[in-house]
Amino acid sequence: MKSKKNMLLFFLAIGIAAIGRATPLEDGKSIFMTRCAACHNVNKVLTGPALAGIEEKRSLDWIFKFVHSSQSLVKSGDKEAIEIFEQFNKIPMPDHPDLTEENIKNILAYIKSETKTGEASVAPFPKPGKKPSNAKPLSADNYGFFAAYFFSVAALISALLFAVRIKSYERNKEEEKLSAS
Ligand code: HEC
Repeated sequence: MKSKKNMLLFFLAIGIAAIGRATPLEDGKSIFMTRCAACHNVNKVLTGPALAGIEEKRSLDWIFKFVHSSQSLVKSGDKEAIEIFEQFNKIPMPDHPDLTEENIKNILAYIKSETKTGEASVAPFPKPGKKPSNAKPLSADNYGFFAAYFFSVAALISALLFAVRIKSYERNKEEEKLSAS
């Protein structure tokens, strides 16, 4: 009895742990929202550059170093860091030395998931005013439609027949009553 109860508690604990554990994407999103979104947007330039495509632009190692301490990288004479620092009016990006490589990878995953592809950011459909219709033209091999159609016609016919039956039954009853009296 006691061991059964312990088993139950054990599984309950695993369940709670599983629910409480954020996925990498959720972890990345929450860090990005709390610590980067004040200056960065994935697709728009704010105080800091838009971060879409950062993984293609910079090496993973460079990104780790820059996020941990961008000014150290600038002072070390890193060309890319100096260039982006000057491009953004020498606004120093605050250091985030406590973020692990795992955290930063998760942020990058979030950035990737939020990145708008060129086409999608232009228009939600190919030509303005020409939204493709969702309706499918009716064709002879649309078996689902025809099955539903015949079924409803059959249901209607049987309902009518049933109504006629009831009527004639009532009439018969009345006639019986009349002849009996
Ligand atoms: C206070 C504003 C601010 C915050 C907060 C901030 N950044 Fe930045 N970030 C900047 C600025 C400004 C730059 C441009 C480079 C510079 O000025 O040093 C930059 C540049 C970058 C770059 C280099 C971009 C490129 O094109 O090379 C990366 C990567 C980056 N930030 C990631 C982050 C991440 C990840 C966070 C959150 C953990 C973050 N930043 C938080 C202001 C900020």
